[in-house]
Amino acid sequence: MERWDIDRYRRPALVPCEVSAGIEGLTIGVGDDAIDLSFEGVARDEVAEVVTQLMRPASDIWVRLGEGACPAWIRTLTVQLDALSLIEETDSGIDSITSDAQRAMALCDEVGQRLAVVVGRRLAMYQDVLSVVHQMLTADTHDRDAMPSAFPFSDEGSGKFAGNFALQSLHFQLAYARHNAPEIVFAWQRVLADVFQHVGWHPATAVSDDAPLERFRSVASLDPVDLEMYLLSFAHFVEIAPLRVGRRMTSADTERFTEPCSGLALAARAERLLLNALEQLGSNAYAAAALESHDITPLVKGLYIEQYHVTDRFVEILGPLLSRRLKRNLRARLFQYFQEEYGHEAFELATCVALGMNEAEVRASVPLPLTALYIDAYTVLAHRLPTAFFTSIMVTEGLRDQHSPVHEHIAALVESALHAGDIVAKHGETNDELNHPSLSRLFLADVPHVSAAEQRYSLESALFMLEVNMRQLESVAFFYGEQTRLQFHGLREGRRPLEI
Ligand SMILES: [Fe+2]
Repeated sequence: MERWDIDRYRRPALVPCEVSAGIEGLTIGVGDDAIDLSFEGVARDEVAEVVTQLMRPASDIWVRLGEGACPAWIRTLTVQLDALSLIEETDSGIDSITSDAQRAMALCDEVGQRLAVVVGRRLAMYQDVLSVVHQMLTADTHDRDAMPSAFPFSDEGSGKFAGNFALQSLHFQLAYARHNAPEIVFAWQRVLADVFQHVGWHPATAVSDDAPLERFRSVASLDPVDLEMYLLSFAHFVEIAPLRVGRRMTSADTERFTEPCSGLALAARAERLLLNALEQLGSNAYAAAALESHDITPLVKGLYIEQYHVTDRFVEILGPLLSRRLKRNLRARLFQYFQEEYGHEAFELATCVALGMNEAEVRASVPLPLTALYIDAYTVLAHRLPTAFFTSIMVTEGLRDQHSPVHEHIAALVESALHAGDIVAKHGETNDELNHPSLSRLFLADVPHVSAAEQRYSLESALFMLEVNMRQLESVAFFYGEQTRLQFHGLREGRRPLEI
């Protein structure tokens, strides 16, 4: 980390103090404290004058200090005063927060209006979804950390929304937001309120709440790219919830697991379940499009952009487990896993740049909804139930020694197109060399006992993540596949949002 220095203040000022002549130099009094300043080669009056000036944030001395145009002794003096904690930042940041909050509100309203257009066309079809989502956003969630009894929207209790992928996704993003960015929940409420206002309908339980700017200041603390990502993903999942594409494509009969088992038995059950599901799902839009690509198309580029966004956040998913009091062995392995993944986004970014993309544009692009969900859901699982996380991670790290012909085709394409091929190859090799396909089994080998309920939840989670993974690739094909010239995802100028 770099060292703190005086030039980092925006509008510094010396705290108000009394200046008087001391025995040798000057004495400055702050409250009950008196501090003696001694100096050589400068007249006492001159120092006293500068000290007085420093109390005024608008003083010319601060400006000249910032420009490096002050005598060395003034810099030394301010550094000393700063070391004594006598310099304060007087810019409360309120102006920039206010304008950020206004921007955030405008973004919420824009997304709200877009969603309202979609909803307005078929209001009758959307009413139930909007009621459920509204309920989810406002529900009292004091016991949200308790081990859930059933996978969300999976049982009969969920009525017609049982097996709804979009609502399951919203459930995980909401759980993620409550823990990691509660401001987003507020932004989503605003979007929903906008929709209700535009379509002239709201659920009976909704009370109109004109969100004041004051409350929006917290939303302004979010990174603007993250805010945009969560607004767009929210709108996307609400939009697809009542459609056929919003329903689950995979399901498992987990009711039959009524006895506890060992961690390794769970691993084997999950492997069988996932391989079966993969077979039943067959080919997908992404695989077909990818295999048809014979040069570096926007689809190939898009794959690396989204992969960059995933990798950029990947190690976060381990965060909740790193602070848990787990057995030594498991803890050591988790830290090793963290270390083995940390910083890998540099490989993906380097590939994007080698493929001709602008680094800053890649960084500022807004991840697709499914890309965000992918990380959010893993983070929630890691927090909620370690066995569910250990089981689900096999989706990302490779199922046993499954080789993906699609992945190999893309890697070969990129390798032959670029001299940067070694970057891509290096990353692929890293995963295998580090034996990451063994991770699920290694973790679960250290879990001697899994209750029946934990087992069911873990299997449902793994299957859900398999579907998230596949849908994420499909959304890459859907968004980038049609493009002839690469366009990034997002709402700002030059970008475009995902439309279903
Ligand atoms: Fe890995």
